[in-house]
Amino acid sequence: MKKEKYCKIQFTCLGDKKGYLIAIEENEDIPFDIKRVFYIFDVDDEEMRGRHANRKSEFVMVALHGNCKVRVDDGKQKAVFTLSNPNEGLYLSKMVWKEMFEFSKDAVLLVLSNEKYDSEEYIRDYEEFVEEVRCSE
Ligand code: TYD
Repeated sequence: MKKEKYCKIQFTCLGDKKGYLIAIEENEDIPFDIKRVFYIFDVDDEEMRGRHANRKSEFVMVALHGNCKVRVDDGKQKAVFTLSNPNEGLYLSKMVWKEMFEFSKDAVLLVLSNEKYDSEEYIRDYEEFVEEVRCSE
């Protein structure tokens, strides 16, 4: 699986008259080993989450229910994705600034990561993030 800085991933949806099922296997359906799973829900629609980049963690975000927007920024280019379908994920490599916002009341955002939680690898200051991107070139 080709790794871009960020991109949508389409999952295979197994559906029949009993309903739908999506299976996500590490290094098959997403491009990393899964070490952490968390989910975000009950977010006020005025609230913005994220506002950080990670030096080590990669992520795949899936709106299991409802919808939200994700602004991504690799220090050069910005894009906004809408997540509203459990058939698709948004892959984010390390060193991508992310902001999740406009959560619908019923939104449940599943997040998979290749790293366990370590607050030390989070960059929470945007100027520091841009400087680290610039220095890494
Ligand atoms: P935070 O990263 O600020 O959430 P968001 O990016 O969605 O705004 O995390 C909120 C709190 O949860 C913070 O105290 C750190 C803690 N946390 C963990 O303990 N483990 C985790 O995997 C994550 C993502 C957060």
